[in-house]
Amino acid sequence: MTSPIRSISDTARWVAIYRAWESARPDRLFDDPYASRMAGARGDAIVQSLPHGESMAWAIVVRTAVFDDMIVRAVADGAGTVLNLGAGLCTRAFRLDLPPTLDWIDVDLPDIVDWRRHCLGEARPACRHEHRAVDLTDAAARQRLLADATDRGKPVLVVSEGLLVYMAPEHVAALARELHADPRVTAWVTDLVTPMLVNTFGTLWRAHLDSARAPFRFAPADPPAFFAPLGWHEGECRSMWDESQRLSRAVPIGWWWDLFGRFLLPDVYARLRRMATIVRLERQPPTGGAAWAASPSSAPCSRNCMRCSKPCPTSPRCAAPDASSGPAT
Ligand SMILES: C[S@@+](CC[C@H](N)C(=O)[O-])C[C@H]1O[C@@H](n2cnc3c(N)ncnc32)[C@H](O)[C@@H]1O
Repeated sequence: MTSPIRSISDTARWVAIYRAWESARPDRLFDDPYASRMAGARGDAIVQSLPHGESMAWAIVVRTAVFDDMIVRAVADGAGTVLNLGAGLCTRAFRLDLPPTLDWIDVDLPDIVDWRRHCLGEARPACRHEHRAVDLTDAAARQRLLADATDRGKPVLVVSEGLLVYMAPEHVAALARELHADPRVTAWVTDLVTPMLVNTFGTLWRAHLDSARAPFRFAPADPPAFFAPLGWHEGECRSMWDESQRLSRAVPIGWWWDLFGRFLLPDVYARLRRMATIVRLERQPPTGGAAWAASPSSAPCSRNCMRCSKPCPTSPRCAAPDASSGPAT
């Protein structure tokens, strides 16, 4: 089939459109003044051509807002370098309030890096900003990139937003191992999806994604179990479903599930909440095991985190028993 998604990098144009729409709202959750130009006519054509393309805006808007929050907090907590893998058309280095001493490295494939450079032109970043054109499936290039980020001697926050789902599990595992091998990488913020999402949206969009050689590849049934042997545990886990409520960007027909489905079909509801998450992966303590389970926070959670053991003031469901246990498929 002929799809406006011509390559994996066009997925960056696709998601940038939703950021442009959100930025035009009076009640916007963020303002990305570059998104419209960067997404361009092709971004618009992609959204129009995909089944339910327009109604998926909530997911990218919520994802963007939650990543913004988690990144700003990690920088405030001491990260000195942000390594943004699969940056696509992300403009956080230009639109967030960041310290000028922060190093921010946006990494993606050469074509989209060229397009970013073209669109950003003379725009002034908030911090020290660099572009790197790197194919993250190339082990040698990946290791050079990582050495460059860590050799600066500052704690490194790795960000991968909308990237891992397009990578083969063996590439994700290699990346996780390499990041863990350097103790200067202190945290990794990423989104994760489970097979439930791939079986719904992956199927709906399969023809488009396959024609662009960009199928959904990485969707572990039990994300903590995938990352634990690679040295990472989920220090914070935010359900996109829960966040959509908190941020008032409703999931289509989500109201039915929140009112009725949670009682009628509790197992399915639990899996819906785990279907797409944004996690802060932290280094496994030397003893191994799941630190979040062993040492729950003593303060009540105010972040809607599924890993919190305390009732959350903003979401009573934060402490739901299903939230931190059991495989999600
Ligand atoms: C869905 S987009 C997400 C872009 C951006 N992080 C965002 O959320 O707006 C996925 C991005 O991953 C990039 N990507 C996919 N495979 C890659 C690889 N092997 N090496 C580098 N970048 C890759 C694509 O080019 C694309 O820009």
